[in-house]
Amino acid sequence: MAQSLTAIILAAGEGTRMNSKLPKVLHPLGGQPMIDYALENAEALNPQKIYVVVGAHAEEVIGYIGDRAIPVVQKQRLGTGHAVQQVVPFLKKSGGNVVILYGDAPLTQPQTVQALRQFHQVQGGEAALLSARVADPFGYGRIVRHEDGTVNSIVEHKDASEEELAINEINAGLYIFKTAKLVEALGKLKANNAKKEYYLTDTIHYLINQGGKVHALMVPDATEVLGVNDREQLAEAHRLLNLRRIEEHQREGVTFLHPGSVEVSAQTLIGKDSIIEGNVQLLGRTVLGENCHIGSGSHLNSAKLGKNVVVRSSRISESTLGDNSDAGPFAHIRGGSVLDKNVHVGTGTELKNAHLASGSKAGHFSYIGDAHLGKDVNVGAGCVFANYDGKNKHHSKIGDKVFLGSNSTLVAPVVIGKGAVIGAGSVVTKDVPTGKTVVGVPAKPFVKKRS
Ligand code: UD1
Ligand code: CA
Repeated sequence: MAQSLTAIILAAGEGTRMNSKLPKVLHPLGGQPMIDYALENAEALNPQKIYVVVGAHAEEVIGYIGDRAIPVVQKQRLGTGHAVQQVVPFLKKSGGNVVILYGDAPLTQPQTVQALRQFHQVQGGEAALLSARVADPFGYGRIVRHEDGTVNSIVEHKDASEEELAINEINAGLYIFKTAKLVEALGKLKANNAKKEYYLTDTIHYLINQGGKVHALMVPDATEVLGVNDREQLAEAHRLLNLRRIEEHQREGVTFLHPGSVEVSAQTLIGKDSIIEGNVQLLGRTVLGENCHIGSGSHLNSAKLGKNVVVRSSRISESTLGDNSDAGPFAHIRGGSVLDKNVHVGTGTELKNAHLASGSKAGHFSYIGDAHLGKDVNVGAGCVFANYDGKNKHHSKIGDKVFLGSNSTLVAPVVIGKGAVIGAGSVVTKDVPTGKTVVGVPAKPFVKKRS
């Protein structure tokens, strides 16, 4: 039987270097609060329990965690070792192993956490930890190894000798311990170091002194160990995460013209042979079908696009665009709008909670709010659906093949029958029967004058 496993996430740091009112682990990163990544990594191990060590005023963090983990409060921030000590009362009976993750290391991937656990199973020993060789080890704990390759100790940057500072293998902040050994070592911690803190990293050397063995698994991808302590590192983590997601989409057959300027959420799906230009954001649960073309400056948030959809410099949120539809430039499609197949929404047009059935066109600067448009409707330039009377929103219904002349206003709620024609510049205040033509302000049935 597999040994029992408990996970602990450290998230009580004040994040002083972030200079923020928001707790560090709640800062958004790649579309999710930073702590999400540690939670996902812990969840990937399927442990019996996940504890999150939080600071004294961390209601927001506790609220965010919900029932995904058990919060344990660290009243005073006395170091990473002290943080883990707060969980010890819950650990004693659990036996097995403990995995410790830092809430500010969001680039470590679930498969790496799983690899560390397997590495520990294979290597044996009291503990195993993750390390990497980095170009700039400044600020990180250095891994001091024995000649046989096992770990001797972790020396924090501020406590390191010149010789130790030259080591470029750093501590990622991800460990697996035999529970009993961790508890024993935590009991011996002292704060006799540069920061006057109880370092979790000191447990390593204690275990070695007791005759134990600790192994370090070095990850080849040094970006996995980036710690986020300030806004610069936050931006760097954001950049790296995006790049990682984009590379995945590239392998799946998506073209990015300027990958460095594109933002893609973890949940976004993109169909093969789609082309994404520069300065594009694909956020939330955005789904693109095959062969879509997303023009520069577009911002899509939980947008669902069918196949062959073209979006030019537009903003689309919580809306659906059917196959072969196109939008923009500068369209704003929002609030649960739905375009069926072959719909054209052109320059400067806004849609809110609007349904346009297949073949309909709204080519130039119109506002269509709270309305259902049938098939093959033509919305002339500058039409406005006046859906709000100052108190309530009203819904309008436009039949198939209706022709709305340029610059007409529809004072909702109105129903316009199939094939009706609204003359340019009309203000429609009443329903229009099927096939009729209305004109004027207010719009009245069109009667041909005798000459
Ligand atoms: C720590 C490691 C260092 C490693 C680096 C990797 C120690 C002593 N040092 O340094 O070896 O290279 O991470 O990024 O562990 N925290 C608490 N309570 C505390 C202090 C910290 O919960 O009292 C949490 C923080 O919220 C953070 C994590 O522990 O998520 C790490 O703390 P931090 O102060 O950022 O440690 P580093 O100096 O980065
Ligand atoms: Ca850190």
